[in-house]
Amino acid sequence: MCGIVGYIGNNQAPSILIDGLSKLEYRGYDSAGVAVHDGENINILKTKGRLSNLVKLVIENPLTGTLGIGHTRWATHGVPSDVNAHPHISNDNMIAVVHNGIIENYVDIKNELAAEGCVFLSDTDTEVIAHLIDKYYKECLDFEDAVFKAVNRFEGAYAIGIICKDCPDKLIAVRKGSPLVIGKGNGENYIASDIPALLNYTREVYFLEEDEVAVLTKDSVAIYDKNRNRVEREIYHVTWDIEAAEKSGYAHFMLKEINEQPKIVRETILNRVPENGDGIDLENIKLDRKDLENIDRIYMVACGTAYYAGLIGKHLIEKICRIPVISEVASEFRYSDPIIDDRTLLIVVSQSGETADTLEALRISKKNGARVLAIVNAVGSSIAREADDVFYILAGPEIAVASTKAYSAQVAAMYILACHIALELGKMTKDEFKEIKEQLYMLPSKIELILQKQDVEKKLAEKYMNVKNVFFIGRGLDYLVSKEGSLKLKEIAYLHSEAYAAGELKHGPIAMIDENTLVVAIVTQEELIEKTISNIKEVKARGAKTMAVAMKGNTKIAEVADDVIYIPRTMGILAPILANIPDQLFAYYMALNLGTDIDKPRNLAKSVTVE
Ligand code: F6R
Repeated sequence: MCGIVGYIGNNQAPSILIDGLSKLEYRGYDSAGVAVHDGENINILKTKGRLSNLVKLVIENPLTGTLGIGHTRWATHGVPSDVNAHPHISNDNMIAVVHNGIIENYVDIKNELAAEGCVFLSDTDTEVIAHLIDKYYKECLDFEDAVFKAVNRFEGAYAIGIICKDCPDKLIAVRKGSPLVIGKGNGENYIASDIPALLNYTREVYFLEEDEVAVLTKDSVAIYDKNRNRVEREIYHVTWDIEAAEKSGYAHFMLKEINEQPKIVRETILNRVPENGDGIDLENIKLDRKDLENIDRIYMVACGTAYYAGLIGKHLIEKICRIPVISEVASEFRYSDPIIDDRTLLIVVSQSGETADTLEALRISKKNGARVLAIVNAVGSSIAREADDVFYILAGPEIAVASTKAYSAQVAAMYILACHIALELGKMTKDEFKEIKEQLYMLPSKIELILQKQDVEKKLAEKYMNVKNVFFIGRGLDYLVSKEGSLKLKEIAYLHSEAYAAGELKHGPIAMIDENTLVVAIVTQEELIEKTISNIKEVKARGAKTMAVAMKGNTKIAEVADDVIYIPRTMGILAPILANIPDQLFAYYMALNLGTDIDKPRNLAKSVTVE
């Protein structure tokens, strides 16, 4: 999604803004721009396309000034174009703004301002922000008053950075529903929509909360709530390194993140499943027997990859704990009038912790009395802050748009959660847990083994790079893994692919199978192997090419499928985390062969903060 940076201090703003924007490129964008205050006027450079276009523009038209705001835009209102790119500025060049999110009532405000003679240059909703603040500024000649007055009128979700021609010593930031952090420096301060933009300059950050406004000078940061009361906020010290947000020699962030999975899964597990002990340590998460007995309904709600991790969680909780769980994508859940009361547990899953639909699902559920447990990666994110309990997955910054390491850590979290619930409710004996625990501890080295052999997926991606259609099939947990495999291929290789329950193929989609189709079968669930083998035979007979992901020792599959990727043996319920790795690698190498923009696939954004 869009990226915001802002700087006020003693150094030249343009290079800091562009450097910050480059750290936000992973979020996905289609245009970029900066506004810099030169002491007298605000000067803007902006352009459609990659950040390199903006850099070229800045080299050709150097800007100077120690106050500025910058933006990478991901189009919502108005096509990607120079004129729609941010920053936007008022007609009298007084107020310049950058904005993430959507101003839902912008049409009303636009009509009102246009009737008063305001000229609109772009198709964006953002432009009304600059004009409305400017209107109020003209009335009161107080920058802060004008911002507060305007913000009271905006509906929707947004984060905004604002500068004023008359105030070369002030940068204002506003947050409602879209993340914004403030970086505290020495004689300089920053704003950004995400921490990586700040890490070259500071590790001390404040997270802005809902409806807050921050007024920055180079020496101070003042945060106000919506009633304009001063708020004290603790500084959060960022512990992870800039290297964690850089490629470290890998060709792509996605490949780096895939290869980080042994370490991340190890950390997620070790953090909650202590070596010395016979249980799970959920630390401050309050989910003991009494809490669980008070719950009569569990919802598992998320979007995209996080939703697929949630599906594995649903399966595990149902299988191990024998509690029914309703899984739903957040965009449907929020409008489905779900049955929620104080006996409901909502589990939301989100890497970014900022996904608009998931956040809304959380809010609706809380309003109706549910308890909310969030499985989140981004520390201090909106979902983490608003949930009753947070299970941090500790995956570190995930930069590639396509989620990989977060999925594995989320699935690991699901194993831990399911075991915890089962132990609390007496649905699992200590011995059964001991066996799962031993197997859980072995997962990281098994992932390592799969990664060591990634030449297999690389070669298969060369072999199948010209297929036009891909079906991922499986049964039970294998079907759930198929969904994530199929999504990865669509996202980064732009290849048409569908996940289907293997037994459903013959109820329609089999008509699509021909010699240009690849069928990837996930076949790890011992009791279902024969069934899925029959389905592989069916598609082979109709000309499809077939590839299987199976556990070592499954020789039957090699007699049927054209190619087999073997993963180390593990318990059936733990297989998803391993079986998904070959799918990630296959998608990555397919995308590499097809020449797509792997880390920033077209039309996609890392964190979807709009509906
Ligand atoms: C796919 C992907 C998306 C996200 C989805 C939810 O690779 O990254 O499908 O999983 O947008 O995002 P979070 O987890 O941030 O809520």
